[in-house]
Amino acid sequence: MLDKSPARPAVNVPNDLTAFWMPFTANRAFKKAPRLLAGAKDMHYFTTDGRKIIDAAAGMWCSNAGHGRTQIASAIAKQAEALDYAPPFQFGIPQAFELASRIVEIAPKGLDHVFFCNSGSEAADTALKIALAYHQTNGQGGRTRLIGRERGYHGVGFGGTSVGGMVNNRKMFGTLLTGVDHISATYDREKQAFSKGEPEYGANFADDLERLVNLHGANTIAAVIVEPMAGSTGVIPAPKNYLKRLREITQKHGILLIFDEVITGFGRLGYAFAAERYGVLPDMLTFAKGVTNGAAPMGGVLVRDTVYDTFMTGPANAVELFHGYTYSAHPLACAAGLATLDIYRDEKLFERANKLEPKFADAVMSLRKEPNVVDIRTVGITAGIDLAPNKNGPGDRGFAALNSAFHDNDLMLRIAGDTLALTPPLIVSDDQVGEIIDKVTKVIRAVA
Ligand SMILES: Cc1ncc(COP(=O)(O)O)c(C=O)c1O
Repeated sequence: MLDKSPARPAVNVPNDLTAFWMPFTANRAFKKAPRLLAGAKDMHYFTTDGRKIIDAAAGMWCSNAGHGRTQIASAIAKQAEALDYAPPFQFGIPQAFELASRIVEIAPKGLDHVFFCNSGSEAADTALKIALAYHQTNGQGGRTRLIGRERGYHGVGFGGTSVGGMVNNRKMFGTLLTGVDHISATYDREKQAFSKGEPEYGANFADDLERLVNLHGANTIAAVIVEPMAGSTGVIPAPKNYLKRLREITQKHGILLIFDEVITGFGRLGYAFAAERYGVLPDMLTFAKGVTNGAAPMGGVLVRDTVYDTFMTGPANAVELFHGYTYSAHPLACAAGLATLDIYRDEKLFERANKLEPKFADAVMSLRKEPNVVDIRTVGITAGIDLAPNKNGPGDRGFAALNSAFHDNDLMLRIAGDTLALTPPLIVSDDQVGEIIDKVTKVIRAVA
């Protein structure tokens, strides 16, 4: 799908950028040399100075169907006219039930219920709270420990931050939740470098959970949460059979397994959910981002019936779970979600991603001889390219690459330290993959 539309006229920008404290952003550097966006269509963003930028990041792992999809925009507009807001506690809207059913339909069999929230962070915290409440309801209230993984990212709530394993996200925020522990990350460059798809080595990293079981006792552990592909830390695909082994160990010890599929959900790895790619059924699965193509904030937790049914006891008039958000299943997000799922289905975008994966992997691997490239990892329509740090220390070369991409090469990519992450919308054409790789080559050389 080649977008032949030209660049757009420049738009006015505010002359004072000080008031907005930007999230996860180097505010002072940004405000000196802003990367301002004004529009988007299909595979491109348009900058406020009218340049057309190819999107190699799906925004932020969100816009899997590309940008400016009319079907989604009109669904949101129509919904805003018909019903702008409805309370989700004790009341409901048809679209919420319909969307939940549609998500269950494409989810692995057994994940039969959806709890809606508004972001990936809320989804992680919701899943962790459900895990604790489940064990308490089930007569095992001693299971209060939550286990994450080093280098994991589960958003910025206190739950997600606690089980998360990226040091910068944790170190400023005190002791976080108590009783949390982490299994080791799954990356070993010596044994895995330049792997396409799941590395052959590393299923044994799952055994680290046995270490924590031996340390804490299985009957103190409520749940383990992992991303099937660790995204934010720099794209680390699960090693072959790692997730299967983690499932076996959790099952053996009565520990709930939560997959955080905020990035991997909705086609990123060539399937509706990564759980399907790996043939592993978790007890809960969190999603966000791609559920609305990024067009409205929404997140959610898919829950197995065995978990859900545990709560559906006691007096029928009593609230079963004291948890939820004012904007859970917001009408505009539900409308966006339904329109998005229609597009994914009608354009067979998950299958498209699956078919494109080998070509995409080959194209990205062609960068391995470029300066400072020390590893490349690919899985689905996602790649992480590790650059060696420059003399100014970790992250400086990555930041220079972000700026070179945006300001000099009309390219949007994501960075994680010195890792460049490529995660284009799933509508990306073969030609556009080539164009992205050409631009990334220029960027890597520019920051050499
Ligand atoms: C795996 C994962 N979980 C949770 C989140 C947090 O999502 P949000 O920023 O919508 O709160 C992210 C965001 O990138 C993510 O990648």
